Amino acid sequence: MQLIQIKPNAPATTKTTTGNGAFDAYGRQMTYLRISLTDRCNFRCIYCMPAAGMVFQPREELLTDDELLRLVALFAQSGFTKFRLTGGEPTIRPHVEDLIRQMKQFPGVEEISMTTNGLLLPRMAAELKDAGLDRINVSIDTLDPLRFKFMTRGGRLDLVMAGIEEAERVGIGPIKLNTVVVRGQNEQEVIDMAALSIDRPWEIRFLEIMPMEGVGMVYDEGLVTTEETKARLEMHYGRLVPVDSNPSDPARLWQLPGARGTIGFISPVSEPFCQFCNRVRLTADGKLRLCLLRNDEIDFREEMRGGATDEDLLRRLRAGIWRKPWGHGLAEGDLNIGRGMSQIGG
Ligand code: 5AD
Ligand code: SF4
Repeated sequence: MQLIQIKPNAPATTKTTTGNGAFDAYGRQMTYLRISLTDRCNFRCIYCMPAAGMVFQPREELLTDDELLRLVALFAQSGFTKFRLTGGEPTIRPHVEDLIRQMKQFPGVEEISMTTNGLLLPRMAAELKDAGLDRINVSIDTLDPLRFKFMTRGGRLDLVMAGIEEAERVGIGPIKLNTVVVRGQNEQEVIDMAALSIDRPWEIRFLEIMPMEGVGMVYDEGLVTTEETKARLEMHYGRLVPVDSNPSDPARLWQLPGARGTIGFISPVSEPFCQFCNRVRLTADGKLRLCLLRNDEIDFREEMRGGATDEDLLRRLRAGIWRKPWGHGLAEGDLNIGRGMSQIGG
């Protein structure tokens, strides 16, 4: 496997901010905040959580709705336009619809999306749409119900499929599906997953597994590179057709010949996209996480609870983003992640 990472020569020494934007020392502007609403989940995916011993955070350690909304307003003031709700599983956060409705009112908030396992969508999709949810990504690794049950440790594929259909019916779109490809599990089933893009205008995205905290073993044995998955699809369907994509979208896009939808490959391990990174993450316990794969976080919860003013928080936000690390360092074996995926939200 070839590992590529392009680094700039040196960080800029002066801030190149324009207007109110939040820039890092490499000149990258952050415009996209991923917000983990809870570290809990109604699934236990094998690449996300350990089989046993998962400890969840007590409620008082999580941001309250008011604290969260205050921060979102400040991020929007700092040039953030896109916000994604993640988890754990975001749909199990109480009053998630109210949060969306209120976030949508803040000046500067252009788009709110969600990454979900889809289980609760059959009954929640219409309300989420009504609250203002624009787009949705649903995690689904296989179309085989038994394998699905195994990979999610108990999940029901039929309900998730019904959830995806319901999201489409109520007009939350475009729909993207995330499939983490795991050796010995679903690496052959990428053929069936990709087939969903033939008749539907969906983006089927294949993710390389990442070595998150608590799932080291699954990672060590499970990594299937994008190169391998793409070759598998091409053996079956013939040459994939390249499709233009936005560089800050981690997915590189292709199409099966004649398909309505697209195929996306997300390759954090074999082809890092750090160069175009425009995102930071807010954990459910109120830490600004500067890089998915680095344990470098800035606390907002205790600042707020200690009486910080909006100006204090804005200053902290700017200073934090300025020191965002260049890249995740997986290629250098530079691993200190510190949290599981369900505590960060992908
Ligand atoms: N590697 C890659 N993707 C992961 N996800 C969860 N754990 C991992 C991992 N170890 C994915 C989920 C979901 C998104 C938030 O992250 O499938 O789509
Ligand atoms: Fe839950 Fe998503 Fe983690 Fe699966 S990947 S256990 S659905 S948070």
